[in-house]
Amino acid sequence: MTFQSTSTAPRKILLGVTGGIAAYKAADLVRRLRDGGAEVQVVLTEGAARFVTPLTFQALSGRPVRVGLWDEAGEAAMGHIELARWADLVLVAPASADFLARLAAGLADDLLATTCLATAAPIAVAPAMNQQMWAAAATQANIQTLRQRGVRVLGPGVGSQACGDQGAGRLLEPTDIASLVLAPHIEAGALSGRHVVITAGPTREPIDPVRFLSNRSSGKMGFAVAAAARDAGARVTLVAGPVNLTTPVGVERVNVETAAQMYAAVHSVIGSCDVYIGAAAVADYTPQCCAENKIKKTCDTLDLHLEKSPDILASVAALERRPFVVGFAAETNNVEGHALAKLQRKKLDLIAANEVGAERAFDREDNALLLLWPGGRQELALKSKADLAREFIEFISQRLPVALVGA
Ligand code: C5P
Repeated sequence: MTFQSTSTAPRKILLGVTGGIAAYKAADLVRRLRDGGAEVQVVLTEGAARFVTPLTFQALSGRPVRVGLWDEAGEAAMGHIELARWADLVLVAPASADFLARLAAGLADDLLATTCLATAAPIAVAPAMNQQMWAAAATQANIQTLRQRGVRVLGPGVGSQACGDQGAGRLLEPTDIASLVLAPHIEAGALSGRHVVITAGPTREPIDPVRFLSNRSSGKMGFAVAAAARDAGARVTLVAGPVNLTTPVGVERVNVETAAQMYAAVHSVIGSCDVYIGAAAVADYTPQCCAENKIKKTCDTLDLHLEKSPDILASVAALERRPFVVGFAAETNNVEGHALAKLQRKKLDLIAANEVGAERAFDREDNALLLLWPGGRQELALKSKADLAREFIEFISQRLPVALVGA
C-alpha cells in the first residue's frame, strides 16, 4: 500500500466575528492569520459591529468587511454564495452562544449564518461566553450537534472572564487559534466530529508513601499524537500519567498516576469514543498492597509481591460497542513478532511497534514506527515525533471502518 501525506493549511479564511466582548481580540487574530500567510475576509454580525468597527477589520485584513445580508454594494462585489465558495475555511471567533444556537439550528437569518450554510469548506468555531452560558444544557447540546456534523470546536479556554466570573468560556488566545487553524491539516478535518481518547506517559505504582514502580516513558509520543489528532479536527481526551509536558491547546487532559486510575479514567470517557489509542506505558504489575508507612531498611533482601494490573487496551477492545482500537508495542527484541502476537491476543485494529532501549524511543525527540494490522504492515521512517504523529493519525483516519467515517 502506498502512503502519501495530504497535509494542507487553509490559505483563504473567512473570519466570522459575532457579538461578544471578546470581539476585540478578533482584530489581533486577523493579524496572526495574515502573518501565517492566510488571506482573511472578515464578516461581522450586526451584534459584533456594536463592539468593534468594520473599519478596524478593513484596515487589518486589507479587504472590505461585510456586515449585512442586505448590503447591495457588498452583495454586488462578492455575494454570499461567492464568499462561501471562496473560503478554504470558515472560522468563527468569537462564536457567541446565540450564534452557536443559530448554526446548530441551520438558520440563515444573517450573512454569517447564511455563508456557513452555503459553504462546502470546513467550519471551525472558537466559543466565547460567560461560563454559565457555556455550561447551559442548551449550549452543550448545540456544541455536541455541531461536533457531530464535523464542525471543529476550538476551546474555550478556562480562566477569568470579562464579567468577573471564573471558569470555562474564555476565547482562546488569538495566537493559539491561529496556530491551530494554520497547522497543516491532515486532509482538512479527517477526524472531524470524532472523539479520540489517547493514553500517554508512564504509570506509577506505589510501594509505600514515598516509593513507586515506574518506567522511562516520557509521554512525548502520546502528546504528539494528541496534537496531531486535534489538528485533524478530532475532539481529543488525553489521559496522562505523570509527565512533565504541557497540554496541547484544545485537548482535554485527565491526569492519573496508577494503572488502576488510568483504567477508571479511560472507561469513564469511552462511551463516546470513536478511536482509542493506548500510547501509555502502563505498568504490567503493581504491588499487591501499598505499605502504610515507609518500608525500613531492616533486612538484606526485600520481597515485593506484585499482581497483574488491569489491561486497559484489551478491556477497551473487548467492549461490545468498541471504538477503533490502536495499541503500542515497545519492544527490545523481535519487535515484529511480539507486536503481531499482541495485535492478535488483544484483538486490536492496529498496533504501532517501536524498538526501545537505552538510546531508542524513550525520552527522545524522534522515533520510527512499524504499523501492523490484520493482514498488513507499513513502516513509518525515523522522523520527529510531531511529524511521525501526523503520519500516524493520517494513516488511522484512512483505516477507520467505513461505518465510522461515514456521516
Ligand atoms: O502488553 P503490553 O504492555 O506490552 O502492550 C502494550 C500496549 O498495551 C500499549 O498500547 C499499552 O498502552 C497497553 N497496555 C494497557 N494496559 C496495560 C498494559 C499495557 O493498556 N496494563
